[in-house]
Amino acid sequence: MSDQDLPPAIRALDDRAWLDLLLKSVVSRDVAGTTFPAFPDPETQRSFVGADGAATLHEAFSFYTLLKDRAAALGRPLAHGTNFLDFGCGWGRYLRFFWKDVGAAALHGCDIWPPALDLCRSLGVPGNLDRLYHWGRLPYADASMDIVMAYSVFTHLPEKPHRHWVAEIARVLRPGGIFVLTLEPRRFLDFVEALPVDATGWEGDLRRHAPRIPLLRQRFDQGEIAFMPSGGTGDFDGALYGDAVVPPAFIDRHWSEWFTVTEYLDEPGQFFQAVLVAQRR
Ligand SMILES: C[S@@+](CC[C@H](N)C(=O)[O-])C[C@H]1O[C@@H](n2cnc3c(N)ncnc32)[C@H](O)[C@@H]1O
Repeated sequence: MSDQDLPPAIRALDDRAWLDLLLKSVVSRDVAGTTFPAFPDPETQRSFVGADGAATLHEAFSFYTLLKDRAAALGRPLAHGTNFLDFGCGWGRYLRFFWKDVGAAALHGCDIWPPALDLCRSLGVPGNLDRLYHWGRLPYADASMDIVMAYSVFTHLPEKPHRHWVAEIARVLRPGGIFVLTLEPRRFLDFVEALPVDATGWEGDLRRHAPRIPLLRQRFDQGEIAFMPSGGTGDFDGALYGDAVVPPAFIDRHWSEWFTVTEYLDEPGQFFQAVLVAQRR
């Protein structure tokens, strides 16, 4: 079922009722006569998105409803057949949400890390899945997408990959198309500075950068990306991946050729990260 469209009765549900079905699907894949995609084990979910189960769906729901609201306000309401791309789709958290709105055929997810796509396939995540390659092209035609989203992806990219992928996203978006993404706001630097010395995991890796925070704040305030490289290798090499705090001034300077920014929302009570809404010229 997950490769196909949902029954009309489910497609007609309002967003809150749809969230309730997705929450039920955490417990059992068979909900309302439909087989839903499975979930990765809780530890795998957390390794991508920092939370699991109902908590991670509630977090995603806020972004899902914001995106739909802003797309409609900008004259691009989501409908069955709206071509939708989730850039950096991970284990398919968002693909399962937008399945209701655009249908499986118009739903696209891509990721640079092959195990993420393997995971989506093994879970039965709906939509078309594509692998990306560093410095490669998005495997979509020019002006073929109506909506692109990227949640917690540009929060990890240094300047060169950031600029490369924004140019690609601009290429595949139709004029008037919408790009909604998250960015780490300036307060992320305060968070890193305040991490305890015995922090572990991702926070422990970040803690190494605490002595550089004053310098990184200066970079941010000068309109440059404040970047903290990961200590990883391969796809997670520090030249490709880490934690990136992107100032709106950087966006203004490097995106204006293609995009009009309509909103930069930094509301810690609503979203962990800042949300940027941009419309393709
Ligand atoms: C923090 S996870 C977020 C996953 C998903 N967007 C979500 O919110 O559930 C970041 C994802 O971005 C992917 N990623 C990292 N660098 C990327 C790049 N340059 N291009 C595309 N995807 C990338 C990672 O493999 C990972 O799946």
